[in-house]
Amino acid sequence: MENVTFKVQRYCPGKDQRIRMQEFTVPYTHGMTVLDGLLHIKEHIDMTLSFRSSCRMGICGSCGMLVNRFPMLACHTPIEELNSSTVEVRSLPNFPIVRDLVADLGPLFEKHRSIKPYIMTAVSEGIPDGEFLQAQKELEQYVQFAYCVKCGLCMAACPTMATNSLFLGPQPLGQAYRYCTDLRDKGARVRFDETDSPHGIWPCHLAGACSEVCPKGVDPALAIQLLRRALVLDGLRLRRKKQPARLAEPLPITKPKVEAPEFTVKLPG
Ligand code: FES
Repeated sequence: MENVTFKVQRYCPGKDQRIRMQEFTVPYTHGMTVLDGLLHIKEHIDMTLSFRSSCRMGICGSCGMLVNRFPMLACHTPIEELNSSTVEVRSLPNFPIVRDLVADLGPLFEKHRSIKPYIMTAVSEGIPDGEFLQAQKELEQYVQFAYCVKCGLCMAACPTMATNSLFLGPQPLGQAYRYCTDLRDKGARVRFDETDSPHGIWPCHLAGACSEVCPKGVDPALAIQLLRRALVLDGLRLRRKKQPARLAEPLPITKPKVEAPEFTVKLPG
């Protein structure tokens, strides 16, 4: 393959309200990713092309887009693996478009925030004055779900999201389960109330597309099932009480053995 044809979605708010596709021919180089192709277009053909990217290694989650009709991370998708010399790229569905390939992930972050994605401790207990101990087995309860990079691919693939924009969606639901399972956390009740609602966990009809597209193997569909089970057991008063996480002994404060080096730059005067 010498060249790759990129069919790129273009949309410019205010100027041209229509969404159109534009073709670009990009020289193929071995190991080239979809993001490399888009960067080539921006640097050598059309600098007005807008897309989002940062780390280029599948960590930051900012380059999510629809590649040949499948939600993917552009930096994590070698063109060779697409088995096609034509690459069609569009912005992520189920999100408003800002411009060209840039989707507005604001609704995702708002929903994510609503499930309180952090360790909550009981107010009566105050701020813990030491580190929590955690056994390997306790970590394994939730660590798979903690790999989420908030790229929004699961939300874009979800057929329920496509018909109900109020649905919380696989990413926030997966994270709700992740924090409810963490033994250091005491906020399960708050998250149960948030997710046990008409637009919370129940509209999911288990298509499993979220887990299929997740670039980190998080498996939000599994988390949703496990959270549903926890909610049902809680409703039946059969949920087992979590063992609270233990606090480690505070470490003694010791003076550093190595002296700080002298300043090498002397200020005048
Ligand atoms: Fe960070 Fe693709 S640029 S995940």
